[in-house]
Amino acid sequence: MDTRDAELIAEITDLRKRRGAVILAHNYQLGEVQDIADFVGDSLELSQRAAGTGAGVIVFCGVHFMAETASILCPDKVVLLPDVHAGCPMANMITAERLREKKKEIPQAAVVCYINSPAEVKAESDICCTSANAVAIVESLDAEEILFVPDQYLGHYVSTRTGKKMVLWPGYCPTHARITPERIRELRQEYPGARVVVHPECRPEVIALADEAMGTGGMRRYAQRDDVSEMIVGTEIGMIHRLRKENPGKRFIPVSEQAICPNMKLITLEKVLWSLQEMSPEVKVAEQIRWRAMAAVDKMLKVGSQR
Ligand code: 13P
Ligand code: SF4
Repeated sequence: MDTRDAELIAEITDLRKRRGAVILAHNYQLGEVQDIADFVGDSLELSQRAAGTGAGVIVFCGVHFMAETASILCPDKVVLLPDVHAGCPMANMITAERLREKKKEIPQAAVVCYINSPAEVKAESDICCTSANAVAIVESLDAEEILFVPDQYLGHYVSTRTGKKMVLWPGYCPTHARITPERIRELRQEYPGARVVVHPECRPEVIALADEAMGTGGMRRYAQRDDVSEMIVGTEIGMIHRLRKENPGKRFIPVSEQAICPNMKLITLEKVLWSLQEMSPEVKVAEQIRWRAMAAVDKMLKVGSQR
């Protein structure tokens, strides 16, 4: 660690105490940001942590929809997103207005929205899901038809696992879309003993070649299994930091060094410190949207996680 990082960490440590703040970080954050967090996790775990924290201030090291979800769950807390430009391009591939139009075409369908969506879209949905519980959420619904938004690849994966009739919104994650089946084949040849685990945001052709598809929390638990010593990891590169840190004797091979989410990487130690100094940028969801979005998120939290 260089001297500048050590100084920043000392300042953050002091200020977070004085502010009564908790620092939550997603598994894709820069290693040094993960290392100063009170809790590191996947989208589901982070929303559960936000809902349960006693702290008055949440510094959310992740992207905008994650901070919004914390604000939906904790309207009385100050939720800080250290870089206001840290958005999720997939979440921006849908708007509430377009969703309302689509709902008119298929009014019989239940609307399931991936947590990677704006609060206004959650407010238009029946229930929310994350990659950890999407299969369980869809299975929990009585509806014969599901409108799944906005990730077509996660939606496709869920339809193969549940057999449900699903209409898929054409959104996708540009970072996971960069992972190719050719690369999986190459790595399998190079590391024949390794397990291939990919995120369900990957293309169906990639998922078809993997041993397992799961969200980042599932990957973390999978890596800890005694029968796993070598793992090809098909997700954003930040995940590798955590897997290596927690499993020093094991080998983790990223599918692509290019699988970088530039938005996740906007959060730095400097920006965490500035956000605590300025108590800004704050993410706050307007009350008339919040209570409707809350219903969808709350229903999800009651169903729980699948893997
Ligand atoms: P997880 O919920 O699996 O951590 O995924 C979040 C995400 O943004 C994946 O791109
Ligand atoms: Fe959004 Fe993809 Fe980045 Fe996840 S990795 S936050 S889905 S752009």
